[in-house]
Amino acid sequence: MDENQSAISKPKACIIGYPAKHSLSPILHRYWINQYRLNADYRVEEVESENIFEFINNLSKKGYIGANVTMPHKDIAFQISRPDAHAIAVRASNTLWFENNILRSTNTDTEGFLNAIDAVFPNWDHHVKEAIVLGAGGAARAIIYGLVERGITRINVVNRTLHKATDLRVRFGCSIIPHSWDALPNLIESAKLLVNATSLGMQGKKPLDIDTKLLSDDSIVCDIVYSPLNTTLLADAKARNLVVLNGLDMLLNQAVRGFELWFGIRPKITQELYETLVAHIVNAEMADNYYRPI
Ligand code: ATR
Repeated sequence: MDENQSAISKPKACIIGYPAKHSLSPILHRYWINQYRLNADYRVEEVESENIFEFINNLSKKGYIGANVTMPHKDIAFQISRPDAHAIAVRASNTLWFENNILRSTNTDTEGFLNAIDAVFPNWDHHVKEAIVLGAGGAARAIIYGLVERGITRINVVNRTLHKATDLRVRFGCSIIPHSWDALPNLIESAKLLVNATSLGMQGKKPLDIDTKLLSDDSIVCDIVYSPLNTTLLADAKARNLVVLNGLDMLLNQAVRGFELWFGIRPKITQELYETLVAHIVNAEMADNYYRPI
């Protein structure tokens, strides 16, 4: 096979988003491609909303065996593919692949969160009866679905726009208790798990103003933000020796399933990969780049 033929037949996946060029996904998927010595590729496709329908419908013709989907296209990816149970529960798709020539989709954010928390605190779900999730957007939905699946009986969803939290109770059931932001100080003491699933605390966004001193000594604190990696929330929690989980832990874990679906290998998250991504985040912060999730 000559070089051109090899390039044509090379299986390739991509990240579709707008913007997408600062995504960490190419770094981590290309790392795994090299690690497993695959003759494959992972590219960035910045696609504006007006072209997204045509792009996803022609994914295979464009030579892709699958894709990650990021903001703002997770809803359309859900609508124009055949979603699995995870995507249906969250009503958004972040991973596309072909099964018997049918475009399938899933949402791997839930398993990204659950696998990451299982790794730092095995059996955390026996310990946590009550949780607080800050936010009611796409990321929060995936996390809340994971908490419901693990049987957490009281999930306090705190959101600036209250009706979005209330909608989640309709979707996920009566373990969801919607609150507006001013209820937070009264909720913190009894929750053993706090998850920030808003963009507050992200580089360039408003800070997250929360009094971590009110958390009990055996609570777990998670932040989906990974730029900066050590958010003020996590730094405060670490200073109190609480178990913490950062946005990179969740990002890495959500990427595993897509790679497996496309290339047939369940990739390992190694310390070296983790450090490679940390170096990129730190460099990007210094260069003032803004990373979007996945
Ligand atoms: P994603 O898909 O990443 O979750 P999203 O759907 O836009 O993104 O959700 C962002 C979340 O951050 C929402 O819960 C949003 O609150 P609203 O539903 O009220 O918009 C929350 N958020 C963003 N900026 C915020 C701010 N300045 N104060 C409080 N919450 C904020």
